[in-house]
Amino acid sequence: MASGQLSREEALACSGYRHACHVMLYSDTKTQLFGKIPIRHIVLMQMRYDGLLGFPGGLVNPSKETLEAGLTRELLEEVGVAVPVSEEDLVASRYAPAPFVFSSSSSSPYRLITHFYVKKMEEEQIREVERAAVSTATDHGLEVLGMVRVPLYTTKSKGGLGSFLTHSFIGNSRSQLVDSVLRLNMVSAEELHRALTHSLKTYS
Ligand code: GTP
Ligand code: MN
Ligand code: MN
Ligand code: MN
Ligand code: MN
Ligand code: MN
Repeated sequence: MASGQLSREEALACSGYRHACHVMLYSDTKTQLFGKIPIRHIVLMQMRYDGLLGFPGGLVNPSKETLEAGLTRELLEEVGVAVPVSEEDLVASRYAPAPFVFSSSSSSPYRLITHFYVKKMEEEQIREVERAAVSTATDHGLEVLGMVRVPLYTTKSKGGLGSFLTHSFIGNSRSQLVDSVLRLNMVSAEELHRALTHSLKTYS
């Protein structure tokens, strides 16, 4: 297992840690940008209240709810749909890189373990999530400023994924995105390499 990574059981046995669960919701799509650039997949992220991009989800209390039930509760708050998530959707559990994390809702720092899930949906379900995120989600305009789709293509002017990756991301959500699109073959290793190179050039 990669360094810092834990099994679900090991993670839940850690005392003195809080737990956060986040999920990458995605679907296939046949739509084309400008009628010619295949979009291939819809991948959802969100603009958070702190100005950073991240995945929907949040703090879960394992003494009161399962990790997955907590994640579903957070999804109801943040995207307006109680999307069911199962143990099989869990990709990785790891210690948050910084030893101490500050919460917006409490002033004291805490040690954190993050659990990352990936869940495939139908395109229409993703569209329903996008609609609910602005219409019924209680966190809309508060903790969540909006859902965004991740561009997975590279345009002629080198825009697309490379430019998207130049934004600022919460925690290790940028690596969670990059690792997932590669693992799920949403982007080829070569395309990803070009995008990462472009994002480094643009970062300054
Ligand atoms: P509060 O009500 O403000 O506590 O928000 P929340 O329960 O929705 O929690 P939040 O989504 O902010 O996640 C809690 C912590 O997990 C954050 O402070 C980050 O350190 C971390 N975090 C947030 N989003 C992500 C993400 O997409 N990936 C990873 N790895 N960590 C994240
Ligand atoms: Mn136009
Ligand atoms: Mn939340
Ligand atoms: Mn959250
Ligand atoms: Mn919360
Ligand atoms: Mn909250």
